[in-house]
Amino acid sequence: MAESPKTFYLETFGCQMNVHDSEKVIGTLVSEGYRQVPTVEEAGLVLYNTCSIRDKAEQKVFHRLADYKKLQKQGKKFGVLGCVAQQEGAKVFERAPYVSLVCGSASYRNLPEMLIQIEAGERATGLDDRQTDKCFETEFTARTNPHRGYITIIEGCDKFCAYCVVPFTRGKERSRTSDSVLDEARQMADLGYSEIQLLGQNVNSYKDSAGKRSFAELLAAVGEVPGIRRVRFTTSHPRDFGRDIVQAIDAVPTLCDHVHLPVQSGSTRVLDAMQRLYTREQYLERISWMKAARREISITSDIIVGFPGETEAEFEETLSLLDDVQYDAIFGFKYSPRPNTPALKLEDAIPDEEKVRRLAVVNEKQRDLQRKANDRHLGKIVEVMVEGKNEARQQWIGRTSQNKVLNFTAGESTVPSVGSYVPVIITVCFPNSLLGEMVV
Ligand code: SAH
Ligand code: SF4
Ligand code: F3S
Repeated sequence: MAESPKTFYLETFGCQMNVHDSEKVIGTLVSEGYRQVPTVEEAGLVLYNTCSIRDKAEQKVFHRLADYKKLQKQGKKFGVLGCVAQQEGAKVFERAPYVSLVCGSASYRNLPEMLIQIEAGERATGLDDRQTDKCFETEFTARTNPHRGYITIIEGCDKFCAYCVVPFTRGKERSRTSDSVLDEARQMADLGYSEIQLLGQNVNSYKDSAGKRSFAELLAAVGEVPGIRRVRFTTSHPRDFGRDIVQAIDAVPTLCDHVHLPVQSGSTRVLDAMQRLYTREQYLERISWMKAARREISITSDIIVGFPGETEAEFEETLSLLDDVQYDAIFGFKYSPRPNTPALKLEDAIPDEEKVRRLAVVNEKQRDLQRKANDRHLGKIVEVMVEGKNEARQQWIGRTSQNKVLNFTAGESTVPSVGSYVPVIITVCFPNSLLGEMVV
């Protein structure tokens, strides 16, 4: 099939920042006269927005490129965007010579010029902007969900945790003005959005570039935009997590009662080796602020097992931290050595079998804790945003303010619309989801 040269296919890997960057990239391409198509086969330009947080994530893009190598003969062009692009730079051209565009997230502003270059048959790279002070703000954001949308408030990261590629792939930390964030929130409310998710690698490290509002003040202001019913924010870094955030959640009901506060390890020695900039005690102090809140705040976390030199006793400190905090959910990862990062130089690598074992132990322990703790939700009536329907089970899919999935049944004559908010009574608690009935 002869495809129009102005069509593109885009596949996104990685975190919410990448998902939202893709919405901005799509908007930018569309404004340049391109049309998005749903398959590689139909596309003139094939783009991958990539992630390099762990080795497995990075390999995905090279597998994809290998899968579609033969299509290059049909005149298709390939582009690699995002964190692998920034990390590997021109080396991508060596590994996959048929790629013509390599562009990191700090250079997306220059995409229109790069598109002209690749259309002219040249190669284009956007790799030089990591020291930029500018954020990628565009009026052309193609949001995919009409009810819930992301707003990036801060890009990059200056923390340099010993294991992490992000400071290298996303460049230095830079924040938008709170006025521009609020303008975007108001525009979204006018378009009918009721939920806003504020994004940043460390969203709470936000520093208004006009010096007007703190992060907590910005949160509250977004929560007060007429029409906005829910505000989420992710990811929070423990070091920059102030009590004022908890106070804002208590004071402004539209701010969701959920905080993702990744701890990584329960051992102060390991936290120090990871360069996380807080101790176990300081982390637990932040947790105690949240536990003392008037609203019940759901708390989730990321855990890395098998960081170089992590002893069995140190690993057990992570397990005991799970007991102390009683998280609502965790995401556990095996440490993955990454290019450029200081942890590469550390000795005492933990063998993969041992990392696999530790990860299984962490996940099993958390599952047990969730199984025991989730029963506290039984009989409660909570509001969910309706996300869709599972036809096979004849259940509606809802999400609570605490970010829990609450599937529910509704009377035959009631058809809740997607994006609406309905009250649901919780009748069954599973470790990772809840079941209930709509209250009419
Ligand atoms: N900025 C956030 C985390 C962003 S990365 C924070 O500091 O909390 C998302 C998660 O990926 C991290 O929380 C960490 O648990 C995990 N991660 C990052 N680098 C990793 C690596 N090299 N190996 C394994 N997991 C990693
Ligand atoms: Fe990575 Fe640490 Fe920055 Fe989070 S704070 S993105 S883990 S360097
Ligand atoms: Fe991955 Fe880059 Fe996000 S490495 S997790 S896509 S910031």
